[in-house]
Amino acid sequence: MIIARTIDALKTAIKDRRDNGDKIGFVPTMGALHAGHLSLVALAKKNADCVVVSIFVNPTQFAPHEDFDSYPRTEETDANKLESAGVDILFLPTEDVLYPNGKDSDIKAGSTAQGLETTFRPHFFDGVVNVVNRLFNAVTPDIAVFGEKDFQQLSVIREMIETQNRDIKIIGAPIARDEHGLALSSRNAYLSADELMIARQLNVIIHEAAKTGDMDAARDKILAAGFDTVDYIEKRWNRVLAAAWLGKTRLIDNVAI
Ligand code: PAJ
Repeated sequence: MIIARTIDALKTAIKDRRDNGDKIGFVPTMGALHAGHLSLVALAKKNADCVVVSIFVNPTQFAPHEDFDSYPRTEETDANKLESAGVDILFLPTEDVLYPNGKDSDIKAGSTAQGLETTFRPHFFDGVVNVVNRLFNAVTPDIAVFGEKDFQQLSVIREMIETQNRDIKIIGAPIARDEHGLALSSRNAYLSADELMIARQLNVIIHEAAKTGDMDAARDKILAAGFDTVDYIEKRWNRVLAAAWLGKTRLIDNVAI
């Protein structure tokens, strides 16, 4: 596995593969990798000859009061996992590499960003499209894989690609869950043993809501299960999507109706 820390090193490694006729697949991440991320890698490997993964905790998608500083950073373990998973190129940029001229961006998230996450994290999707656009420019992939875990993010990225009329195929990967149905997330590392028990009820409640269609009842159940606040539980894209707080941890999940 080649580790590239600069855009020049990345472009050189990718050009070698492209000159070979290889199709480039890309999986952007913020690290603290779990089986969910690795399922995206596996899907990228199926759909491309050369798989590039990036790890970058992107400051522009965090608000000042959010968990940018405490976000788990486990570079060495992550690199080992990716090497075992057969990743070809690992891109590890710093802020200077991705934002050499400051963090402003001409592109903004489109209409799919409205509501849901944006109601509670207004800066979030502008930060995501800012960084993903920069990463796409650096990697120039043929395909890129995003998880359905962040269903609204997947929609925002698809809209960005359509608006830019860019030739990158976006592939959505199903949500990887633990044996109790809890959607895997790097932020699950924040949960205490007691919180983990509560967290595992979220997927059960939204599955039920997808059947009954009663979002108000589901909201009450999430609170009764021990969550502190429900940011939203709503139907969109033929799915039930929810975000709720448990102590200092914000969990999101969604299921098909
Ligand atoms: P991160 O939260 O690290 O997630 C990276 C990718 O893994 C995203 O596409 C996300 O949807 C996917 N993913 C996370 N948990 C998953 C699970 N349990 N099942 C399936 N896929 C899962 O999302 C981001 O990083 C950032 O916003 C990023 C796109 C990298 C831009 O900074």
